[in-house]
Parts: sequence; C-alpha cells; structure tokens
Amino acid sequence: MSVMTATLPPAAAVRSVADIRRDFPILAREVHGRPLTYLDNTASSQKPIQVIEAMNRYYREMHANVHRGVHFLSETATAAYENARLRVARFINAPHPKQIIFTRNTTESLNLVAYSWGRAHLKPGDEVLITEMEHHSNIVPWQLVCEMTGATLRYVPITATGELDFEALPRLLTERTKVFAFTAMSNVLGTINPVAELVAQAHAVGAIAVVDGAQSVPHLATDVQALDVDFLAFSSHKMLGPTGIGVLYGRRSLLEAMPPFLGGGDMIREVKMSGSRWNELPYKFEAGTPAIAEAIGLAAAIEYLEGLGMDWVGAHERELTTYAWNRLHEVEGLRILGPEPARRGGLLAFVLGDIHPHDVAAILDQDGIAVRAGHHCAQPIHDHFGLVATTRASFYIYNTPEEIDRLVLGLYKAKALFDL
Ligand code: ALA
Repeated sequence: MSVMTATLPPAAAVRSVADIRRDFPILAREVHGRPLTYLDNTASSQKPIQVIEAMNRYYREMHANVHRGVHFLSETATAAYENARLRVARFINAPHPKQIIFTRNTTESLNLVAYSWGRAHLKPGDEVLITEMEHHSNIVPWQLVCEMTGATLRYVPITATGELDFEALPRLLTERTKVFAFTAMSNVLGTINPVAELVAQAHAVGAIAVVDGAQSVPHLATDVQALDVDFLAFSSHKMLGPTGIGVLYGRRSLLEAMPPFLGGGDMIREVKMSGSRWNELPYKFEAGTPAIAEAIGLAAAIEYLEGLGMDWVGAHERELTTYAWNRLHEVEGLRILGPEPARRGGLLAFVLGDIHPHDVAAILDQDGIAVRAGHHCAQPIHDHFGLVATTRASFYIYNTPEEIDRLVLGLYKAKALFDL
C-alpha cells in the first residue's frame, strides 16, 4: 500500500541529528529555564539558518517587485521567484512549473480549487466526497461551495483504528461524485492514506481527486505524476520554509479551463472598462504582489530537505514514531488515537486519563516542551471519538529519542499533579 513514490536521489551524505540541530538557531534556546523540546511540528516546523539567510540575502541585495520592471533588481527578483517555482515543481515531479501556483498556504490552495473549479462545475444532484478525518481547511470550503451550487457533501467514515472505512467507499464514491477531496496524512490520527489507490478510484467514476498534502509533502517523497492527482495543496511553513506561502499543484488542462479565484494585478492580460482577459498559467491565479522572499525561503527549504534526502526524512521519523509509540504506551491511562506506527506519520495525538489536554500541554510547557492541545482544526475526528480535544506531539528531522524521554517524564509529572 505504497503512498508516495521516491523521486529524489539518495542523500549525498547522511548527517547526524546533532549536526542537523546546529542549523536551527531556535533549538539552542531555553524556555522557562529548560532546553527547548520542540514537538509541535505538525502545526509548524522550525527554520534552518540556510532558509533565514536566503530570505535576508534577498532583502539585503535583491528586493524589487517581480514581473513588473525592466530594471536589474526587478529582473533579479523575478528570476529568483521563478527559480523557486521550478524547484517546487521538481520536488513533487510536476510536469511543468506552470502547474505550480503560489498561494498563502494549504487553506488558500484548497479554497482556490473549491471556489474556482467547484463553482464552475458543481450543480444540484452532484456530490462532493470528503472524509471524516479532514482538517477544517478541506471541509469548510466544500461546505460553502455546496451551499452555493446545490451540490451535496458526503463523508467517508473512519474505523475504530482511525483509518478510512474502505468497505463504505464504493457506495459513497459513485457516478454522482464530481470531487473526491482527502488528506494524504491526517494531522490528528497520523493515518497515511493510500493516495494513488484513492485517486484511481475517483477517476474510475469520473471524479477529480483533490489531495491535502499539508502533512505528507514535508515528510514523504511526493510524485504527483505517479500519484496521478488532479490537485495537491501544501504549505511551506510545515517543511522548514517561511509562513505566508503555500502551493497548489494542478493538472494543466483543469487549471487552464478554470476561472480566476482572486482578481487584481498580475493575473490579467488586459483590462478594459467593459471587461478583462486573464493572464496565462500560473499568473492567472496569482493576483497582486506575491510572497517573493517567502518563495525564495521555500526554495532554500526544499534544497535543505533534498540535501538530507526524503527517504532519510521518512526513515528518521518512522524510527522516532515507533520509539514514542512504545514509550507512551508505558504511561498508564494514556490512549493514543489512530493506527500503529507502520501505518502512520510522525505524530501522536493522545488523551491522558481525564486530565484536560490544555492542562497536559501547560504542564509540559513548564519544562520547555512544546506540544499542541485542542481539536487541531479537526473537530469531526474528535466528535467521532467522543472527545473535545487531544494533546499532540509531532516530530521532524531534528527531534531525538531523548526529547521523547523528556515528554514521557513530563507526562508522569502531569499524572502526579492530577493524582492519576
Ligand atoms: N494544521 C495545523 C495543525 O494541525 C495548524 O496544527
């Protein structure tokens, strides 16, 4: 049940985690007098010095607006911005850089598809199929567009182990389904979905497949051609890059036929008082001055990940996740949501007896341990398990087993405080 296909060459040289950590200035700081233990990577990753410096260099030496001037700086900034697009295209094996649209984040990428493709194609009687394990970003835009168009929204249920209910899928994915939108990796359950298989099933009924890759692209090698996805959305800030920039990859024929999402500068070919004509891809979908420094930062982040090799990234996280899974199971009264490590990514959401997840996170914070507590923008999953919130620890390239040991000690402290 392979999800992603490796597209990148193996890492040139395997680096130690201690060495990698030296690239991340923030990891050297203390929080409440203790070393920072950053386990909130699913929300946002930290940034290596290479990304920070690439953005500083841009502002110090290259800044001007892109696509607008004939002067040296504008041309330099444009070349760097377009080079970032090329780098993203290569990272996910897109057939052409025109198919890479820069947005603000995954949320905006998914909204772009829902509003532009959805409003143009959906009508009463049509169905949009999503899953119960989606982030709100892959639920709410579809709710809105279904309300606007009269289409019906359906959900693939999940099983007790937090995986998609594949027995229910055939009766939900039918010739009425026009869109099947699903996450490649759940941000709460960690579940890795079989993307290629789900895309093929969507195509078999004539639906388009929209994939939320916010949690998968930073962690697993991704090949959009092998997966045959129609749209893939992801964010820079979860993959070592800056906030404020995200990506929408789309099938060229679909993108070309779609109306614009936002109107303004750069996205037009011609504006007359009587009406306007649109620019070519990708600019049709990039209204206004884009996030130039952020695109350059994202390119540096991709270069960093490619230097490590996505196979190494995935293997490191699997090792940590298995270690954390075993160590957390030693804590009596702790319950982890979602499947076992072999079928999940590097995050563990859990409840600790009846201690409120915010209390757990606050106690851990006192020891400098950063985890997220809440519904993680995925209320339907929590409803499914009869919970309002969970505590979530999530890992990335710089995390170590020692940090997981600190987490476990912190959990024992929480238990002692609450007499559990
Ligand atoms: N989607 C991000 C998370 O799961 C913000 O924390």
